[in-house]
Amino acid sequence: MTTQDELRPTLTTEAGAPVADNQNTETAGVGGPALIQDQLLFEKLAHFNRERIPERVVHARGAAAYGTFTVTADVSQYTRAAFLSEVGKQTEVFLRFSTVAGNLGSADAVRDPRGFAVKFYTEEGNYDLVGNNTPVFFIKDAIKFPDFIHTQKRDPYTGSQEADNVWDFWGLSPEATHQVTWLFGDRGIPATYRHMNGYGSHTFQWQNEAGEHFWVKYHFKTDQGIRNLTQDEANKLAGEDPDSHQRDLRESIERGEYPTWTVQVQVMPAADAAGYRFNPFDLTKVWPHADYPLIEVGRLELNRNPENVFAEVEQSIFSPAHFVPGIGPSPDKMLQGRLFAYADAHRYRVGINADHLPVNRPHATEARTNSRDGYLYDGRHGRQKNYEPNSFGGPVQTGRPLWAATVVDGPTGNHATPAHAEDDDFVQAGNLYRLYSEEERQRLIANLAGFIAKVSADREDIVERAVDNFRKADADYGQRLEAAVRELRKQ
Ligand code: HEM
Repeated sequence: MTTQDELRPTLTTEAGAPVADNQNTETAGVGGPALIQDQLLFEKLAHFNRERIPERVVHARGAAAYGTFTVTADVSQYTRAAFLSEVGKQTEVFLRFSTVAGNLGSADAVRDPRGFAVKFYTEEGNYDLVGNNTPVFFIKDAIKFPDFIHTQKRDPYTGSQEADNVWDFWGLSPEATHQVTWLFGDRGIPATYRHMNGYGSHTFQWQNEAGEHFWVKYHFKTDQGIRNLTQDEANKLAGEDPDSHQRDLRESIERGEYPTWTVQVQVMPAADAAGYRFNPFDLTKVWPHADYPLIEVGRLELNRNPENVFAEVEQSIFSPAHFVPGIGPSPDKMLQGRLFAYADAHRYRVGINADHLPVNRPHATEARTNSRDGYLYDGRHGRQKNYEPNSFGGPVQTGRPLWAATVVDGPTGNHATPAHAEDDDFVQAGNLYRLYSEEERQRLIANLAGFIAKVSADREDIVERAVDNFRKADADYGQRLEAAVRELRKQ
């Protein structure tokens, strides 16, 4: 035994008793069967069997890092959120990037939106902005989300993603045309997580100290510049290095090359909403910058890798319902559905005490609730009373709502998202198509056609419906796509 060996700590069981032999199972005689009294064997096998928790039902594949958000411009006229209160103020953040449809072990370099989920550990509690790298989304009502995701995931019979399902759903959901035009364009496969923008996508409410409220959209502009992969480059990279995005993020931080994003908002005075040409709460629409220009807010830097991927990334939870005073929801029906869905997913996936884990709990304040116990409760509250009102000095409510009330009218009912003057499902998709360069249009058509052509030969109706939506966005778009698909289906 060397001196170094003598300094090493003793291997123990979970209960802390020394392990005598970690190489050979205890058996009845030499070469005989295992003994029940070898509890080390059973403890190891049993723990190993329970290593996995359910992966996220969407956005299962991801990578994350910690960092700092710094306020660079005064926005206190729009929001009373304390972490945005003065220029120079810094707040710790945790940002998890992800793909949407793939399973936990799937490749990073695929055509799919990227999740961009930011947790701001503010002194008024954690504020989560659970966005994507796209400013819009495929659907505008939460009730369609499970159906939509079923078409992106594995078919119940084949066990694979099926072009039939994807294009059937999109063809029958014309509101997806804008997002699909975005996704099959150049930005549909970012080169890395560092070289893409992030967006809050939904419209959120900001409320200032005077009680006035505004509708805002968040933009995180990459300071590394936008870099994308072509479909061919991505196909190759996904095979050679399935973990390409995760590796790139970790290694860049290890090298001290800290990625940064400039954080901006579009601000709409509350009074504008009713008369705006697009429904400002429709997630399939952007607000053109000419209508509402970008206003700088701050700078986000990622500068620290998690030490333990399972503890800090797999068990991390983000919820669009995690607001802080001065920030709140809008009536966007997608956002409203998400306000329920995430915390429900966390209770199932990580458990009722998920909020207490180091990555998830507030870092700049503490949680003071009367909720207690449950699986893996750590006893943090000691003997404190667990009810309210109480006369033992327990925590009390503020009496001040976090955000402004919104006025509603009309009967209850399963109402479609109201259409404003210029709303239809195609206008912004057509505008985006016409914004692309000729080279980008060619790649867009090739990417779309390559996928649409995979629809089963006897389901020409699915192809026709899908192409028709692009035709309605722009005649040239539809014509070129139809020709490209026809050519590929002839082969
Ligand atoms: C009604 C529509 C939606 C529903 C019901 C929904 C539901 C979910 C659920 C259940 C998860 C898994 C949460 C977990 O297990 O921790 C998730 C993850 C995620 N969703 Fe959504 N989602 C919706 C729309 C959106 C939209 C529009 C965006 C972006 C603008 C988005 C961005 C994300 C991101 C980034 C994650 C991963 C969060 C993380 O890194 O842990 N989702 N979603």
